[in-house]
Amino acid sequence: MRGIIIFFKKLASKLLSIFFNLRLFLAPNVFLKTEQYFYERKIENMQKSSGYADFSKLLRSFIPPSVKVLDSGCNKGFETIIISKTNDVVGADLYSSFIRIAKKRGVEAYVMDFHNLSFFKEFDCVYSNNILEHAQFPEKVVRGVNQSLKKGGLFIIGMPLDGYNLKIKDPAHFFRATEKNVIDLLKNEGFYINYKVIIDTKQKWQWKIPSANNKLLVCVAKKF
Ligand SMILES: C[S@@+](CC[C@H](N)C(=O)[O-])C[C@H]1O[C@@H](n2cnc3c(N)ncnc32)[C@H](O)[C@@H]1O
Repeated sequence: MRGIIIFFKKLASKLLSIFFNLRLFLAPNVFLKTEQYFYERKIENMQKSSGYADFSKLLRSFIPPSVKVLDSGCNKGFETIIISKTNDVVGADLYSSFIRIAKKRGVEAYVMDFHNLSFFKEFDCVYSNNILEHAQFPEKVVRGVNQSLKKGGLFIIGMPLDGYNLKIKDPAHFFRATEKNVIDLLKNEGFYINYKVIIDTKQKWQWKIPSANNKLLVCVAKKF
């Protein structure tokens, strides 16, 4: 009897692992977007914990006051509301349920894939907090940001650098970059680098990000 139970347990775990590996092959969009959605629903809780909250505060400090801002990947508008105290701000995110909540909170926000932004020279600043690592086609995202910005506009980026620990994979991160990958990308797509720093999140905030070897990039780039 014990042998049969062990056999079925092993079989179940084998089948599960086959399914897990096949899921992206069978229906990448359905699985990725669903899995990402369930993960991203909890981001607001992270914003309330220290580490993420401290990092976000630091990143927001690069937004010049009184200019028009796009909060790209705004989730439920948690930071969009904070930015709205000092700036004219618009939020955008892939998931309509997040945008519904952001709007209920009084924020102007749109359902939009950051690979296909439909703004044209409207913003002085595009703010992207923990967004670019989710891009399947980062060149397309940066090109869309460039198109959305006025001349001289700022692109503020905060993102984990998963390229420094390729052994560990976060399933929702597609742009697994080193600092050089991000900087080269920005330069190729028409930006100067005004400021950049890599923060060791474990040392600074006791916040462990194993996939990124605890490295978070802060970068402020300016459109030519
Ligand atoms: C890690 S969360 C960061 C949210 C918010 N910026 C913050 O720091 O609180 C990433 C956000 O990017 C959004 N996102 C992921 N892929 C996207 C896409 N293709 N287009 C637009 N938003 C996307 C997710 O829905 C999620 O809200």
